[in-house]
Amino acid sequence: MALRHVRYVFFTAAVLPLSVQAQQQPAQDAVCIAHGGAGGYAPFSSMSSFTLALSMKPDYIETDLQLSKDGVLVCIHDLSLEDQTDVEDLYPNRYTNVERNGQTLKRWYVNDFTLAELKALDSGSWFDPKFKGEPLATFQELIDLAKGKVGLYPETKDPDFYAARGLDINEALHELLKKNGLDTREGQKTTPVIIQSFYEQSLKRLRELGGDNYTLIQLVWFDQWNDCMTDKGLDRVATYANGVGPFLSMVLPPNESRIYEAHKRGLKVHVWKAHEAFPPARFPNRKSYMKYLLDDLHVDGIFTDRPDEFPAVEPAATSASRDEKSRT
Ligand code: G3P
Ligand code: CA
Repeated sequence: MALRHVRYVFFTAAVLPLSVQAQQQPAQDAVCIAHGGAGGYAPFSSMSSFTLALSMKPDYIETDLQLSKDGVLVCIHDLSLEDQTDVEDLYPNRYTNVERNGQTLKRWYVNDFTLAELKALDSGSWFDPKFKGEPLATFQELIDLAKGKVGLYPETKDPDFYAARGLDINEALHELLKKNGLDTREGQKTTPVIIQSFYEQSLKRLRELGGDNYTLIQLVWFDQWNDCMTDKGLDRVATYANGVGPFLSMVLPPNESRIYEAHKRGLKVHVWKAHEAFPPARFPNRKSYMKYLLDDLHVDGIFTDRPDEFPAVEPAATSASRDEKSRT
């Protein structure tokens, strides 16, 4: 893994109370997680975005995953296609009516289309007309791009939806990783794999399928605070996962003790995303803000749509010089 991301925390002593220092563990391998690839510059989770991200040398490339009708893992955030593709034009009658809050909504579910049908969609124009015609990417295509060069950080989306259809998106992910030799720690030597999900059951299923071979991150939204971020919640998460992935605002002061409490339990803390809550006035740019998250709050990883802005830290840097740099 990139040495440039090795963190040193010598100056902690100057800024944190003793009680907190005692709980703190140095994050020696903080990671840059390219969110949807370079999602700030190209259509989220597209091959254009992944390819650009790779050139920015992150530690991991992140993608959301959905499952096609013919069982192919596709890189797309939403369960349905209407927001990011021209599905309504291409397949006007292939929708499902969904009742929500007294309204009937039309939904074109990814899972109702074969890969060949999905590949015919334009999933680039929503981002910028210059990406018109960009096809949806498969997870296999991302693996082919990334293998041996960068880690993979897939997210199992909507496992409950798939389970209700008799499908197991967790198993589909495990089988694909296995097919690519990425289901063992040995196989992951040059392509480490971290799997994330908001769904506890998904992570537990992956533990069942892959044993300890996958590093698992429990994503956390505000309504999961009690289950995942309180002392008791963190105790619980530590029984089935290797870390938590809270929305950034959830662990900013005055809640930074959650990071220290996670570390005490051996859990990593990967926050998303760097541009959320960005940036308090004292930080001139995203890079200095990320330095603060890493150096002062000691998060272990940051999901960012702009991996080129992830702060590089020279291993030899002293606490004072880094502190100086991060404030200029
Ligand atoms: O995977 C981190 C973050 O992307 C989780 O939220 O909804 O953007 O996938 P979401
Ligand atoms: Ca995601």
